Order: sequence, then C-alpha cells, then structure tokens
Amino acid sequence: MAQVFVLANQKGGVGKTTTTYNLGVALADIGQKVLLLDLDPQGGLTYYAGFEPEDLGKTIYHCLVRDMPAKEILISNDYGIDLLPANIDLSLAEFQLVNAPARERRITRIVNEVRDDYDYVLIDSQPSLGLLTINALAAADKVIIPVSCEFLSLRGTRALLKLIAKVKGSLNSKLEIAGLLPTMFSVRTLHGREILDLLGTEFPQLYLFPHTVARSIRFAESTKARVPVFETKVQVPGALAYRELARELVKTNNRI
Ligand SMILES: Nc1ncnc2c1ncn2[C@@H]1O[C@H](COP(=O)(O)OP(=O)(O)O)[C@@H](O)[C@H]1O
Ligand SMILES: [Mg+2]
Repeated sequence: MAQVFVLANQKGGVGKTTTTYNLGVALADIGQKVLLLDLDPQGGLTYYAGFEPEDLGKTIYHCLVRDMPAKEILISNDYGIDLLPANIDLSLAEFQLVNAPARERRITRIVNEVRDDYDYVLIDSQPSLGLLTINALAAADKVIIPVSCEFLSLRGTRALLKLIAKVKGSLNSKLEIAGLLPTMFSVRTLHGREILDLLGTEFPQLYLFPHTVARSIRFAESTKARVPVFETKVQVPGALAYRELARELVKTNNRI
C-alpha cells in the first residue's frame, strides 16, 4: 500500500509543484509505482506532466464534488507517472462542499480507492490553508514542506505547523512531518546559507533534508517545456537533490 505524501506550504512559489513532479519522476525512475494528485486549481502539476488542464473534461473536481471514481479521471504520461489532474473547476469545490458531510475527508476517500496500486502517492497542494489543503493533510501519512531559501519564506511556516498539529489532533492522528526541504538555494550567496542556519535554529524539532535544491533557471525552462528537469540537455545541480530525496524516501520507508 502506498505511502501518501503531501507537499505543503501556503506560500506560493516555493517549489511545491516542481518538487511534486520531479520527485515523482525520480521515484518512478528507481522502480516505484507513483501516483501524483493535483490539488491546486491552477493545474500547474497537470500542465507540467504534459496535459492541458482546461482541455480535460474530467478532473479531481468531479471526484470531489460528483463522487466520480478516481480511476475514471486517471491519466498517465511517458515518464512513468499516473496523475489525478486538476483545473480551474477545482476552485468551485471549496464552496460547493461547504455543507457536505465529511467534507474534510473527501480526498482520503479518493486516495483510498487507488492507494493499493502504488508505492507512492504525492499530493501537490495549493498555496492556502483552506479546505483543499486540510483534505490533503487528512489523507496523508507525511508532509514535506518545501521552503525557499529566502527570509520571507520562513514566516509562513509557523502557521502551517499549527494547522498540521490541528489536523493531527482532529482528523489524522498518524500524520507526521517528514521534513523541511530547502529549495532555490543560492550556493554563492551568504543569504542562502544564513537561511539554512536559521531553519535549523527556528525549527530544531523538524528534520532538514540534507540535499538542498539549488536555484537554477532550468527549473522554469523544464516547466515550460513540460519535461522533467533530469531530461534537459545540461546537468542541473538542483535536479540531483530530487534523485537523492527519492533514494532517501525509499530507504527510510524500507526500514520501517
Ligand atoms: N530550484 C529552483 N530554482 C529556481 N527556480 C525554481 C526552482 N524550483 C522551482 N522554481 C521555479 O519557481 C517557480 C515556482 O515554483 P513552483 O514549483 O510552481 O512553486 P509552488 O508550487 O510552491 O507555487 C516556477 O517558475 C518554478 O519553475
Ligand atoms: Mg504549485
């Protein structure tokens, strides 16, 4: 049965979507069966995986609001990825589910339909702490928190930790924080290193993944071209971090 990870941080632009996709491909490359779930109405993950979000007739919205079985919306790409896609329809779900029974557990139910078929389910969440993110946290075993190595990025992390604690107390007692993943690390600036030190002192209780994702323009290029960052012609230093992260997850998973 799959381990379910959610990539969460209510700050936008910290690398949630980039991490979800490239970590997913890195896991698939080492023989893992991977399902990605796009839970952001922007559909960035769906786009990165090679699909046109607005051209898809059936998305995670239909599972959430219309009880469509997950298998009916499942799509796959050439990089070994299965995807439950999203598009802008998903922005309606939050309102339409306001009075629905068990509205925080809808994603849990959807994930449970398919998790036996996979080793890993990675959920990309939207930059907010609303109902969709709560659904993702309720469905997950572990949270990976991407933090970009810039000062403002630290501020939101406390609010996220509070929400995680709340979800753990009410909806999902087994929820754990896998760790903080430093992204957009500038090797050459002092600032990047200062932020890393600060992360360690501000959040001593949290695991800091040792392989920081370096800042590189290749990530934006890879998103635009809709190919995993490993597939670009030049070697991207940050890409290796995702391979290392994939190996680390598989290794620790096997130990449990
Ligand atoms: N390591 C990195 N270095 C430079 N740019 C990055 C890196 N990771 C992601 N990006 C770029 O930063 C932007 C935001 O990343 P994204 O993954 O969409 O963040 P989020 O999902 O948290 O909003 C995108 O344009 C992406 O290509
Ligand atoms: Mg995103």
